[in-house]
Formats: sequence, C-alpha cells, structure tokens
Amino acid sequence: MRRILITSALPYANGSIHLGHLVEYIQTDIWSRYQKMNGHEVFYVCADDTHGTPIMIKAQNEGITPKQLIANVHKEHAQDFADFYVNFDNFYTTDSKENQLYSEEIFKSLDRNKKISTKEIEQYFDEDKQMFLPDRFIKGECPKCNVKDQYGDSCEACGATYSPTDLVNPYSALSGTTPIKKKTKHFFFNLSECEQFLKDWTTSGTLQFEAENKIQEWFKSGLQDWDITRDKPYFGFLIPGETDKYFYVWLDAPIGYMASFKNLIDQKGNINFDDFWSPDSSTELYHFIGKDILYFHALFWPATLNFAGFRKPTKIFAHGFLTVNGEKMSKSRGTFITARSFLNNINEPEFLRYYFASKLNDSMSDIDLNLDDLMSKVNSDLVGKLVNIPSRTFGFIHKLFNGKIKSIDQLASDSKYSQLVIKSIDLKSEILDLYESRLYSQLVRKVFTLVEEVNELISDEQPWSLAKDLEQNKVQLHNILTTSAIVFRNSIIYLSPILPNLSKEVASLFNETDFNSFNQIKDNINKINQYKHLYQRLDKDNLVKLIEDNKIMENKNNAKEDLDTGNHISIDDFIKIDLRVAEVLEANHVKGADKLLQVTLNVGELGKKNVFAGIKSKYNPDSLIGKKVSYVANLAPRKMKFGVSEGMILAASDSNDGPFILLADDGAQAGMKIK
Ligand code: MSP
Ligand code: ZN
Repeated sequence: MRRILITSALPYANGSIHLGHLVEYIQTDIWSRYQKMNGHEVFYVCADDTHGTPIMIKAQNEGITPKQLIANVHKEHAQDFADFYVNFDNFYTTDSKENQLYSEEIFKSLDRNKKISTKEIEQYFDEDKQMFLPDRFIKGECPKCNVKDQYGDSCEACGATYSPTDLVNPYSALSGTTPIKKKTKHFFFNLSECEQFLKDWTTSGTLQFEAENKIQEWFKSGLQDWDITRDKPYFGFLIPGETDKYFYVWLDAPIGYMASFKNLIDQKGNINFDDFWSPDSSTELYHFIGKDILYFHALFWPATLNFAGFRKPTKIFAHGFLTVNGEKMSKSRGTFITARSFLNNINEPEFLRYYFASKLNDSMSDIDLNLDDLMSKVNSDLVGKLVNIPSRTFGFIHKLFNGKIKSIDQLASDSKYSQLVIKSIDLKSEILDLYESRLYSQLVRKVFTLVEEVNELISDEQPWSLAKDLEQNKVQLHNILTTSAIVFRNSIIYLSPILPNLSKEVASLFNETDFNSFNQIKDNINKINQYKHLYQRLDKDNLVKLIEDNKIMENKNNAKEDLDTGNHISIDDFIKIDLRVAEVLEANHVKGADKLLQVTLNVGELGKKNVFAGIKSKYNPDSLIGKKVSYVANLAPRKMKFGVSEGMILAASDSNDGPFILLADDGAQAGMKIK
C-alpha cells in the first residue's frame, strides 16, 4: 500500500470558482479517487488562498473585514466543490493558526540556514491611501507601445513585461493620484544561492518534460532573490519580530498545503505529520497546478522546503489552460462560465467531469471546451451509449428473468458473450495504468470501445425481438442480457473516479452500496433492480442560457466593479456640496475684467448672493436676467480684485467650446436644492 498526499492549487478567496479552475480540481479529484479505489492510503487536501492586497481591497470596498469576506467565499467555494463531487479530505484556509505556525517556523529555519537577507528597496507609494502599491495596483502608459491604462507589470496591448517604475505617467489604481517612490526594508529569500539544488531537483524526474524545458529557460536568465515581504497595510501574517511587515501571500500559500494536512490529521488523530513531511519521508507528495504557477511550485516551493528542513514534492503535475469555443475565456462573450451557473443551467456536473476527462492527458497543453462538442459527447456517449445499455436491457431481466442473470460458467466458454465479459475484466491493468499516468482521454476511449461493443451486440441480436418468442429464444436472450449487465457494471467501475454519482446509482441497481474498489471488477453479479432513469439528454437551449447567464452576471459585476475602482466619491461626499437653483436678478460687465461678469443671484432662503462668473465670452449681461442657473452655495467665499465672489455658477465646457451655463427646467424655484 502506498501513502499518498495530493493537492490542488489553492483558489484565491476573492472570486468565484469557474470552469477554468474546475479543469484542475476535477483532474485532481479523478486521480485521488482512482488512488483510493486502488486501495492506497490517500489524502487529498486543499484550502482557500486568503491573503494579499486584492482581498484586503475587495473587503474594504464591500464594507466588511477581510475575515468576513474570506468566510463568505469559503462557504461558496466549498459548496461549488461539493456539488461537482470534488471530494477533498480537507478544504481549509490559509488564514489559520496552523499556517501561521508553519510559516513562521519555515521563515526562521531559512534564516538560520542563511537563506534570508534584507535589502532596502524603493517602491511606489500611494500618499493618499498611505500604502505601498503592488504592481497590479499601479497603472500608466506602457513604456514600449504607449497604450494608456496598463498594469505595473505587463502590457495587455503589446505583451511587454517591465517593472512599475518603467511606466510613463504612473498613477495609483486605488486613488488615481501619482505615486511617489519611497524606501523600505524587505526580507528576501536567497533563491540565487539555491541554483545547484534546483537544477538537480528539477531534472530528477519530478516534472513533465515541457515544464523541465521551461525551467531551463529560467535558469538561463538567472534566478533572482525572492522578495517575500509586504508592508502594512496588508492582510496576512506578520513577519516574526516585525510590526509593520508581512509575509508576501505567495510565501504562506503553499505552506497552506501543509497546514491543511495538519488540520486534517489533528481531526483524524492516528496519522503522524513527520511521516509525510520529514526529509526522509517515504510517502508520496503530488501537487496539481496550472502552468501559470509553475515558477512558484517548481522553484520557490521545493527550495523553501529543502532549506527549511522538510521533504520535497515527489512530482509536480502541471496542466494547461481552459479555452471556451477556441478562445480565451471572456466575460463579455459570456464564456467566463462560473461553476454555479453551470449547475444552474446544465444540472448535471458529471457532464463536465466526463467532458474534461475525455480531453485531459498528462501534458501542459491548453484544453478547449467546445459547447457543441460537449452536447454531442454527452448525448452520444453518456446518454446514447453508456446509460443506454441498462435502459435497453434491464427491463427484460426484470420482467422475464426475475432480475436474475446467468453466471459466466453458464455462458459457453468460447462464445462471443463470454469473450466480451473476459475482455471487460482483462482491460483492468491497462485502465489502471492510464489512470496512473493521467492519460484520461485514452482511458475514456478504451472504456467506450467496450461500451460500443455491448451496444452493437444488443443492436445485432435485438432482445426486444427475441422476447417475442421466449420459448424459442430464452437461452440466447439470457446470454445477451447477462453479458450486457456484467460488462456495463465493469465499465461503470472503471469510470467511477470520473462519474462518482452515476457509479453510486448504478451500484444500487446491482444491490451494492457502492463501487469503491477496482477489485469489484468481476464476472458475475447479484440480482438486478428495476432500471431507473440515469441521465437526461442535454439540450441546446440550456447551453444558450448558460452563456446568456454569464453575460448578465458580467454586466452586474461591471456595475459593481465601477464602484470598486476607488476613483469614486460616496453619496455622503456628494451631498456635502450645497447645490441650488438661483435666479439671476442683475448682471453687469466688470471694468478691467475681460472674462468675468458680475452677477447678483436670488437663492431663495439663502438670500441674495454676489458672484463673479467667467462667462463673458458667451453671454451678454442682459440676456441672463431672469434665468434660473445652477449654483454652488457653500463654496468658500473668494476675495477678488473686483470684490468678493460668493459661490459659483455651473457651466459646461471643453477645450474647444463653452462655457454654457446649466439652466433649471420650468417650475424650479430659486433656492431649491439640486440633488
Ligand atoms: N492562489 C493561487 C494558487 C496558490 S497555490 C499555493 C492561484 N489561484 S487561482 O484561483 O488563480 O487558480 C487556482 C488554480 O486554478 C491554479 O492552478 C490555476 O492555474 C488554475 N486555473 C485558473 N484559471 C484557469 C484556467 N482558465 N484554466 C485552467 N486552469 C486554471 O493561482
Ligand atoms: Zn504595450
């Protein structure tokens, strides 16, 4: 028996789970279920990745604490995973005492091993918000192509990468103000000193060849020391001995794997932490990740573990990115599909599990979700072939044979019937190998070859015709029904890691609690229960609605995000301005002023006001008398060469034309509030 710890990357706690995420969680869940059905001791752990600036800002914008935000998101994520049958042994959080403990311990060990250094660095600082700005929160013109509003680390227009200090006209995405450069002391992990260790580790069979190649490129450009510090304000763990410096979220995030495992075994009570994490551990540790976070998992993480005195991962399994209908997932096209909207519209999570499995392999290539293809795969493979077997045969077994089928000895030994049964059993080692190497698409094809053969047998021999003359055809009919039932059952056992719920339902058709071991593959079975409906066909309408839903959600989110950008004032700010309707009683030229007119206003309850307005270029004084203008009443009075101006008349203009004063509609009375 192998002892195996499996992880999926920890989803950020500031957004919903989407189908891109699910590529990873479903892929990992299938592998974990496969290992468990193989009889190994397996732990599959995950957690929410809860720290960092984006989460802090999001909580601020929602008017809640970061802890409240991550608690809400945790609930939502846990429900999404459960509903897609992603069966973690523990789904924890990085904002935990276990994680803090290990983060501190690892930092101290690295420090003892002379792998931590401090440097004074210079970073952009938002004086308005009083905080250092992460790269993603600094925007400006791309230094290469000069397109505006690009992020501090890379340009979405031309793809250039650079450092925030290279941006032209930088501004803070939080306040809109121009950031200043400010010095601060940061702790660094001396990755450059780990090069030899990492060269050895990454070439010792721990990575897919594509990942290994990618990393060779990184070695060529040289490893930089890693800044593991963020200044306050930050949501995370304080660095030991500091009062205003925190661990960068990417330091504590992978330690979250360890912490989630620790939390799990503390609940279970009979597992030894060191068996899994000490340097000489004989257990296996696998991390499933997306290709975008390879640097963190194949360089930072093993180096961190190694120089802090822990074991290294056995293997890193990186996968590609999900595209939808051949293109990058897009919010405006409605293809940024959330897990929840899939459940709401498609209703059957196993359709997605099956589709992904039928596409996944051990490579880092992207995989495409083509919605028409999803529909045809589901309808032809799952509905038309797989669950079609019991729907074509179980009724007869029940009605004509009292739910009983033959044993394999009763099938003539070299008949096509027994051959197909034996084939379904002999496939086992091949199927298990394909699972082990994560070649799910080949495995699905193998099982479906079997499924197709059963369907052909049924179509050729037509049980429904044979049943018309039972006297004559009883033996043949029973042979077909027996073969179909056994091969169907074995196929479902093979597919159990992919279709765990169908597996459970089918087990109950065979009067079994569940299929939880590949040892249940066999050549004879119990009495069969009456067939019940297993899967519904997928309708084009559901797919259309799915896309529509995600477009609508996007519009809602956009409205919300606009409020979130930080470039806004609250309604409380707005009502500080005392805006009024004011009637022009008098207007005069001002001697010596070429832009200004003197205007006397009636502001109702506020009385008469004197204003100098820069509107002479467009208005002659007489034309203004009696007009009802918009007026800022509580602007501080301003002493001018010609007298005191009390407040301001509003007018519209741009660089070409104006000013045009803003008039109130008929019925508005002097002194009325504008709001
Ligand atoms: N929080 C980090 C991981 C920390 S692990 C110590 C993170 N979170 S994430 O929410 O952005 O992504 C979680 C996982 O989902 C990552 O492995 C990521 O690669 C994967 N995917 C996110 N979007 C994806 C697609 N569109 N397609 C496939 N996988 C995707 O990264
Ligand atoms: Zn650019």
